[in-house]
Amino acid sequence: MMIAINSDKCIECKKCERVCPVSGIDISTATINEDCIQCHHCAAVCSENAIGSQNIIGNASQNNIQPYDFELLMQQRRTHRDFSSKPLSPSIIKEFINHLRYSPTASNRQSLHFTVITNDEQLNRINQLTIETLTKAFNAVNWLTKPLLKLLKGKSVVQTIEQSKTKFLNKAARDNNMITYNAPALIVIHSEEVPVGMPCHDANIWTGMAILYAELIDLCTCVNGYIVNAAQKNKKLKQCLQIPDNHKVYSTILIGYPKGKFENIVERNLPNIHFLN
Ligand SMILES: Cc1cc2nc3c(=O)[nH]c(=O)nc-3n(C[C@H](O)[C@H](O)[C@H](O)COP(=O)(O)O)c2cc1C
Repeated sequence: MMIAINSDKCIECKKCERVCPVSGIDISTATINEDCIQCHHCAAVCSENAIGSQNIIGNASQNNIQPYDFELLMQQRRTHRDFSSKPLSPSIIKEFINHLRYSPTASNRQSLHFTVITNDEQLNRINQLTIETLTKAFNAVNWLTKPLLKLLKGKSVVQTIEQSKTKFLNKAARDNNMITYNAPALIVIHSEEVPVGMPCHDANIWTGMAILYAELIDLCTCVNGYIVNAAQKNKKLKQCLQIPDNHKVYSTILIGYPKGKFENIVERNLPNIHFLN
């Protein structure tokens, strides 16, 4: 949507010029150049609604979420692996994804795609294909390949891979639903592979927002890295997810209703923070 300047309303404060991330606005000539990324920062900052006003949907000063509320939300959010058998309707999932469209994207590209799988048979196939793919990948790290791998990647990397391998194979032997956990739905976040933009980061930021939002509306989630990893290794899985050839899977989230509830908030390590002098 083209952004328009209404010169009758404009008081030439030039806040929009200053806030524009691509320096694309010239108020003296009332023009916006082709570098515009349609982020509508200009419309968001204008007190006179003199620019991009067709895109304004509300007043931004209505936020009464307190810092403590957000801290509590983050602390209470947990990964769920035990989903209620209650199905999640496509309309709720659609609304959920639609509400998350305010998640930021590099250069405001908004290029993420969301594929939703709710069919049990398909989910089971995704579960199975992911286990098969990762088992094969882990088993490729063996007495024959390890020396070369150590040489190329270093001893500690190989040790970490081996630990992951053991955990994965042990879990796979114990739990044949170890990937999709009988969740009623899987959201696959993918995007075209492009030389510019940062779809991986867009997808991960979206994921972070999504898991918090889900918590607020009494849904539960499990971010699933195994499926991302396997989709990059196995074309069959990508096809099963119906991801276009020129797209890459950046994130996946299992989503549903929680079966049980977590009673307590648990501690996390303090982050490593480094200030440069
Ligand atoms: C990028 C990412 C990938 C993850 N992949 C998986 C996964 O494949 N399977 C799984 O059960 N949990 C997965 N998790 C969940 C983590 O294991 C979980 O966040 C961690 O155990 C901490 O628990 P919490 O989320 O309840 O704080 C993933 C989390 C993240 C952030």
